[in-house]
Amino acid sequence: MFKNKTSIYSNIISKSFTNKTNTNLTTMTEINKSKNLNIKKFMPALNTRWSPRAFSDKPVNEEDLKILFEAARWAPSCFNEQPWSFIVGSRSSSPKAYDLIFDSLVVPNQLWAKTAPVLIVSLSKSNFAMTGQPNVHADYDVGQAVGFFILQADHLGLYSHQMGGFSPEIVIKNFNIPKDFKPISVMALGYIGELDRLPKDYASKEGLPRARKEQKSFVFGEKWGESRI
Ligand SMILES: Cc1cc2nc3c(=O)[nH]c(=O)nc-3n(C[C@H](O)[C@H](O)[C@H](O)COP(=O)(O)O)c2cc1C
Repeated sequence: MFKNKTSIYSNIISKSFTNKTNTNLTTMTEINKSKNLNIKKFMPALNTRWSPRAFSDKPVNEEDLKILFEAARWAPSCFNEQPWSFIVGSRSSSPKAYDLIFDSLVVPNQLWAKTAPVLIVSLSKSNFAMTGQPNVHADYDVGQAVGFFILQADHLGLYSHQMGGFSPEIVIKNFNIPKDFKPISVMALGYIGELDRLPKDYASKEGLPRARKEQKSFVFGEKWGESRI
Protein backbone atom coordinates (compact mmCIF):
# COMPACT_ATOMS: atom_id res chain seq x y z
CA MET A 1 0.00 0.00 0.00
CA PHE A 2 2.84 2.40 0.82
CA LYS A 3 5.16 1.26 -1.96
CA ASN A 4 7.88 3.76 -2.85
CA LYS A 5 6.44 6.46 -0.60
CA THR A 6 9.80 7.00 1.08
CA SER A 7 11.70 7.47 -2.15
CA ILE A 8 8.94 9.69 -3.60
CA TYR A 9 9.22 12.00 -0.59
CA SER A 10 13.01 12.03 -0.69
CA ASN A 11 12.80 13.08 -4.34
CA ILE A 12 10.23 15.80 -3.72
CA ILE A 13 12.17 17.15 -0.77
CA SER A 14 15.44 17.32 -2.68
CA LYS A 15 13.71 18.89 -5.73
CA SER A 16 11.99 21.55 -3.62
CA PHE A 17 15.38 22.21 -2.15
CA THR A 18 16.96 24.03 -5.06
CA ASN A 19 18.79 27.33 -4.99
CA LYS A 20 16.45 29.80 -3.29
CA THR A 21 17.83 31.17 -0.02
CA ASN A 22 17.20 34.11 2.22
CA THR A 23 20.29 35.40 3.88
CA ASN A 24 18.88 38.84 4.76
CA LEU A 25 17.30 37.51 7.90
CA THR A 26 20.00 36.26 10.21
CA THR A 27 18.25 35.48 13.47
CA MET A 28 15.27 33.30 14.22
CA THR A 29 13.55 36.26 15.93
CA GLU A 30 13.71 38.22 12.65
CA ILE A 31 12.59 35.19 10.66
CA ASN A 32 9.71 34.46 12.99
CA LYS A 33 8.53 38.06 12.71
CA SER A 34 8.74 37.96 8.92
CA LYS A 35 6.45 34.90 8.79
CA ASN A 36 3.52 36.74 10.42
CA LEU A 37 0.81 37.17 7.80
CA ASN A 38 -0.76 40.11 9.68
CA ILE A 39 -4.10 39.47 7.98
CA LYS A 40 -6.85 41.53 9.60
CA LYS A 41 -9.74 39.52 11.11
CA PHE A 42 -7.64 36.32 11.25
CA MET A 43 -7.50 34.52 14.58
CA PRO A 44 -3.94 35.04 15.91
CA ALA A 45 -2.78 31.45 15.30
CA LEU A 46 -3.55 31.68 11.59
CA ASN A 47 -1.26 34.66 11.28
CA THR A 48 1.61 33.36 13.35
CA ARG A 49 1.73 29.59 12.73
CA TRP A 50 4.39 28.39 10.35
CA SER A 51 6.54 25.29 10.06
CA PRO A 52 10.09 25.88 11.30
CA ARG A 53 12.92 23.41 11.05
CA ALA A 54 15.04 24.83 13.86
CA PHE A 55 13.74 23.81 17.27
CA SER A 56 15.28 24.47 20.67
CA ASP A 57 16.14 21.80 23.25
CA LYS A 58 13.46 23.10 25.62
CA PRO A 59 11.12 20.18 26.41
CA VAL A 60 7.38 20.42 25.94
CA ASN A 61 5.66 19.86 29.27
CA GLU A 62 3.15 17.04 29.68
CA GLU A 63 0.35 19.43 30.68
CA ASP A 64 0.69 21.31 27.37
CA LEU A 65 0.81 18.04 25.41
CA LYS A 66 -2.44 17.05 27.10
CA ILE A 67 -4.07 20.34 26.08
CA LEU A 68 -2.94 19.81 22.48
CA PHE A 69 -4.50 16.36 22.32
CA GLU A 70 -7.60 17.82 23.94
CA ALA A 71 -7.79 20.28 21.02
CA ALA A 72 -7.45 17.36 18.58
CA ARG A 73 -10.09 15.46 20.53
CA TRP A 74 -12.69 18.16 19.93
CA ALA A 75 -12.28 18.17 16.16
CA PRO A 76 -15.37 17.15 14.17
CA SER A 77 -15.37 13.80 12.38
CA CYS A 78 -17.60 11.70 10.16
CA PHE A 79 -20.30 10.05 12.37
CA ASN A 80 -18.25 11.33 15.30
CA GLU A 81 -16.07 8.26 14.76
CA GLN A 82 -12.90 10.10 15.90
CA PRO A 83 -10.71 7.76 13.85
CA TRP A 84 -7.43 9.28 15.08
CA SER A 85 -4.63 7.88 17.19
CA PHE A 86 -1.30 9.42 18.06
CA ILE A 87 2.07 8.03 19.14
CA VAL A 88 4.18 10.48 21.11
CA GLY A 89 7.95 10.35 21.33
CA SER A 90 9.43 12.89 23.72
CA ARG A 91 13.18 13.09 23.99
CA SER A 92 12.88 13.90 27.71
CA SER A 93 10.02 11.62 28.81
CA SER A 94 9.74 8.82 26.21
CA PRO A 95 13.12 8.61 24.44
CA LYS A 96 12.59 5.05 23.17
CA ALA A 97 9.41 6.07 21.32
CA TYR A 98 11.25 9.18 20.06
CA ASP A 99 14.01 7.05 18.53
CA LEU A 100 11.54 4.63 16.96
CA ILE A 101 9.65 7.50 15.29
CA PHE A 102 12.89 9.22 14.24
CA ASP A 103 13.98 5.97 12.62
CA SER A 104 10.98 6.18 10.26
CA LEU A 105 11.85 9.65 8.86
CA VAL A 106 13.49 10.05 5.46
CA VAL A 107 17.07 11.32 5.76
CA PRO A 108 16.33 14.90 4.52
CA ASN A 109 13.81 15.20 7.36
CA GLN A 110 16.09 13.55 9.93
CA LEU A 111 18.69 16.23 9.25
CA TRP A 112 16.51 18.95 10.78
CA ALA A 113 13.89 17.03 12.79
CA LYS A 114 16.61 15.87 15.18
CA THR A 115 16.44 19.38 16.69
CA ALA A 116 12.82 18.83 17.80
CA PRO A 117 12.17 17.66 21.37
CA VAL A 118 8.93 15.86 20.44
CA LEU A 119 7.90 13.74 17.45
CA ILE A 120 4.30 12.62 17.01
CA VAL A 121 2.83 10.09 14.57
CA SER A 122 -0.80 10.51 13.58
CA LEU A 123 -2.73 7.43 12.48
CA SER A 124 -6.18 6.78 11.10
CA LYS A 125 -8.48 3.84 11.78
CA SER A 126 -9.49 2.56 8.38
CA ASN A 127 -12.81 0.90 9.31
CA PHE A 128 -15.78 2.15 11.33
CA ALA A 129 -15.79 0.75 14.88
CA MET A 130 -19.55 -0.04 14.79
CA THR A 131 -19.88 -1.72 11.39
CA GLY A 132 -16.36 -2.66 10.29
CA GLN A 133 -17.12 -0.94 6.97
CA PRO A 134 -14.34 1.17 5.38
CA ASN A 135 -14.33 4.77 6.61
CA VAL A 136 -13.36 6.75 3.53
CA HIS A 137 -13.27 9.96 5.59
CA ALA A 138 -10.84 8.67 8.19
CA ASP A 139 -7.69 10.31 6.78
CA TYR A 140 -9.57 13.57 6.28
CA ASP A 141 -10.70 13.49 9.91
CA VAL A 142 -7.17 12.81 11.16
CA GLY A 143 -5.92 15.80 9.14
CA GLN A 144 -8.59 17.96 10.69
CA ALA A 145 -7.69 16.81 14.21
CA VAL A 146 -4.05 17.64 13.49
CA GLY A 147 -5.24 21.05 12.23
CA PHE A 148 -6.87 21.73 15.59
CA PHE A 149 -3.72 20.49 17.35
CA ILE A 150 -1.32 22.77 15.48
CA LEU A 151 -3.44 25.89 15.93
CA GLN A 152 -3.69 25.21 19.67
CA ALA A 153 0.08 24.63 19.68
CA ASP A 154 0.61 28.10 18.26
CA HIS A 155 -1.67 29.48 20.98
CA LEU A 156 0.69 27.96 23.58
CA GLY A 157 3.79 29.41 21.90
CA LEU A 158 4.73 26.03 20.41
CA TYR A 159 5.69 25.32 16.80
CA SER A 160 4.91 22.29 14.68
CA HIS A 161 6.21 20.91 11.40
CA GLN A 162 4.32 18.08 9.76
CA MET A 163 6.05 15.50 7.59
CA GLY A 164 4.84 13.10 4.95
CA GLY A 165 8.45 12.11 4.39
CA PHE A 166 8.55 9.05 6.60
CA SER A 167 8.11 5.33 6.16
CA PRO A 168 4.69 4.06 7.31
CA GLU A 169 6.09 0.53 7.09
CA ILE A 170 8.80 1.35 9.62
CA VAL A 171 6.22 2.90 11.98
CA ILE A 172 4.04 -0.21 11.61
CA LYS A 173 6.99 -2.47 12.34
CA ASN A 174 8.55 -0.42 15.15
CA PHE A 175 5.26 -0.04 17.04
CA ASN A 176 3.55 -3.25 16.03
CA ILE A 177 0.54 -1.31 14.68
CA PRO A 178 -2.65 -3.35 14.23
CA LYS A 179 -3.89 -3.95 10.66
CA ASP A 180 -6.83 -1.57 10.91
CA PHE A 181 -4.60 1.49 11.50
CA LYS A 182 -2.65 3.56 9.00
CA PRO A 183 0.18 5.98 9.80
CA ILE A 184 -0.69 9.33 8.18
CA SER A 185 2.00 11.81 9.15
CA VAL A 186 4.78 12.58 11.59
CA MET A 187 4.96 15.96 13.29
CA ALA A 188 7.89 17.70 14.93
CA LEU A 189 6.84 19.82 17.90
CA GLY A 190 8.65 22.21 20.20
CA TYR A 191 9.86 25.74 20.75
CA ILE A 192 11.64 27.65 18.07
CA GLY A 193 15.44 27.36 18.11
CA GLU A 194 18.34 29.31 16.65
CA LEU A 195 19.57 28.85 13.08
CA ASP A 196 22.86 27.31 14.17
CA ARG A 197 20.85 24.22 15.14
CA LEU A 198 20.46 23.47 11.42
CA PRO A 199 22.79 22.27 8.67
CA LYS A 200 23.83 25.24 6.48
CA ASP A 201 21.53 24.32 3.59
CA TYR A 202 18.49 24.36 5.81
CA ALA A 203 19.49 27.45 7.78
CA SER A 204 19.76 29.54 4.61
CA LYS A 205 16.20 28.58 3.62
CA GLU A 206 14.50 28.99 6.96
CA GLY A 207 13.75 32.67 6.26
CA LEU A 208 12.13 32.17 2.84
CA PRO A 209 8.81 34.00 2.59
CA ARG A 210 5.64 31.96 3.07
CA ALA A 211 3.76 31.49 -0.20
CA ARG A 212 0.36 30.25 -1.33
CA LYS A 213 -1.65 29.96 -4.54
CA GLU A 214 -4.13 32.75 -5.24
CA GLN A 215 -7.75 32.12 -4.13
CA LYS A 216 -8.88 32.58 -7.70
CA SER A 217 -7.06 29.40 -8.67
CA PHE A 218 -9.08 27.20 -6.30
CA VAL A 219 -12.36 28.93 -5.34
CA PHE A 220 -14.94 28.43 -8.06
CA GLY A 221 -18.60 29.26 -8.62
CA GLU A 222 -20.96 27.77 -11.16
CA LYS A 223 -18.23 26.99 -13.66
CA TRP A 224 -15.37 24.69 -12.71
CA GLY A 225 -12.04 26.45 -13.03
CA GLU A 226 -13.57 29.94 -13.15
CA SER A 227 -12.91 32.12 -10.14
CA ARG A 228 -16.05 33.25 -8.31
CA ILE A 229 -14.32 36.38 -7.01
C1 LIG B 1 0.88 16.30 5.10
C2 LIG B 1 2.12 17.18 5.12
C3 LIG B 1 3.34 16.63 4.76
C4 LIG B 1 4.50 17.41 4.80
N1 LIG B 1 5.72 16.82 4.56
C5 LIG B 1 6.85 17.50 4.79
C6 LIG B 1 8.12 16.83 4.76
O1 LIG B 1 8.22 15.62 4.57
N2 LIG B 1 9.24 17.59 4.98
C7 LIG B 1 9.17 18.93 5.25
O2 LIG B 1 10.22 19.54 5.45
N3 LIG B 1 7.98 19.58 5.31
C8 LIG B 1 6.82 18.89 5.11
N4 LIG B 1 5.60 19.53 5.22
C9 LIG B 1 5.55 20.95 5.57
C10 LIG B 1 5.09 21.78 4.39
O3 LIG B 1 6.11 21.84 3.43
C11 LIG B 1 4.67 23.18 4.87
O4 LIG B 1 3.58 23.05 5.74
C12 LIG B 1 4.31 24.08 3.70
O5 LIG B 1 5.45 24.37 2.93
C13 LIG B 1 3.70 25.39 4.14
O6 LIG B 1 4.54 26.06 5.01
P1 LIG B 1 4.01 26.61 6.41
O7 LIG B 1 3.49 25.41 7.19
O8 LIG B 1 5.22 27.22 7.05
O9 LIG B 1 2.92 27.58 6.14
C14 LIG B 1 4.42 18.78 5.17
C15 LIG B 1 3.18 19.32 5.51
C16 LIG B 1 2.04 18.55 5.50
C17 LIG B 1 0.73 19.16 5.92
